[in-house]
Amino acid sequence: MGGSTFGRFFRITTYGESHGGAVGVVVDGVTPGIEISESEIQIQLDRRRPGQSHVTTTRLETDTVHIESGVFKGKTTGTPMMMLIRNKDQQSEAYDDIRNLFRPGHADFTYLKKYGLRDHRGSGRASGRETAARVAAGAVAAKLLARRGVSITAYTKRAAGIECNTVDYDEIEKNIVRACDPEAAKQIIERIIKARDENNSIGGIVECRVTGLPPGLGDPVFDRLDADLAKAIISIGATKGIEFGAGFAAADMTGKDHNDEMDKNGYITNNAGGIIGGISTGEELVFRTVFKPTSSIALPQKTLDVNGNEVVCVTEGRHDPSIFPRAVPVVEAMTAIVLEDHFKAQAALHA
Ligand SMILES: Cc1cc2nc3c(=O)[nH]c(=O)nc-3n(C[C@H](O)[C@H](O)[C@H](O)COP(=O)(O)O)c2cc1C
Repeated sequence: MGGSTFGRFFRITTYGESHGGAVGVVVDGVTPGIEISESEIQIQLDRRRPGQSHVTTTRLETDTVHIESGVFKGKTTGTPMMMLIRNKDQQSEAYDDIRNLFRPGHADFTYLKKYGLRDHRGSGRASGRETAARVAAGAVAAKLLARRGVSITAYTKRAAGIECNTVDYDEIEKNIVRACDPEAAKQIIERIIKARDENNSIGGIVECRVTGLPPGLGDPVFDRLDADLAKAIISIGATKGIEFGAGFAAADMTGKDHNDEMDKNGYITNNAGGIIGGISTGEELVFRTVFKPTSSIALPQKTLDVNGNEVVCVTEGRHDPSIFPRAVPVVEAMTAIVLEDHFKAQAALHA
């Protein structure tokens, strides 16, 4: 039961629904004595918040974070850190029409079957809004990781069939889809606008790279580093897969091609993506995750109502025509949470 808590040594519990009073997180296992402020956490929340550009939902939320506990005189105390983000711009009446039907691609049918009732307003707990809480927790984890020399960068790598051909970190925050190639970014933006104008949506792939990881993180067999990352990333709404390093391309490679040979300088290649046997190799950690096209589209689609009648559903309202631009900071946050957890696990093993 439950399902809202993640992590062992750096543990987060998120709470809240899209149209409830607030969303937020309790973080346990925060190292004491670390300087932290609401404003530095807010920087990350601003990268995720709705209404940040003309290719995201127009829901107007400032996503202002309030640290309610676990910080005293600007420093973490080591006690549970609770962060709260109030919901302000709900407009719940926009969801009245879908109260009794199952929107295609949404978790309406499955939530009803699981719980026997559902909060239909803004997808309730299944809403992307829940990820604001993760971003707040991730900002704390990233702060702890920075002291360890670890740096995490995610970006849009591909969307609607357009691939980024260069990976330029300086470009990522300069374009509204957070693509790592400015030329691809322009085309992706055009595709999103076209999809939105056609009342449709598009999907995309987010790549994440982590530098500064030492070898040795990860606890075989069930708490392997790749297994924990996979769970963390796939727990983000709308993700449909994850691959590490060469990933699924390994199916078309030989062992000779895929094996990462070593010389005096270490690994010569990194097809493993920085993890072998569930343990970090010390090479760059590289993975990709795919975000499906946004489920809410204002095109007629066949579905059922709660009484089993066939009906036509058109999902109006304020939605992201693509999820990946706002999901980039969420991927970074979940990665940070997993890595800080594994650093603490490694320290406990050798204590
Ligand atoms: C940052 C973020 C924003 C999202 N925004 C929307 C949205 O505007 N409209 C929508 O239909 N789904 C949105 N989603 C996706 C839903 O949370 C999720 O896809 C949906 O409930 C179905 O669940 P599943 O695809 O995870 O199985 C968003 C997800 C994230 C991570």
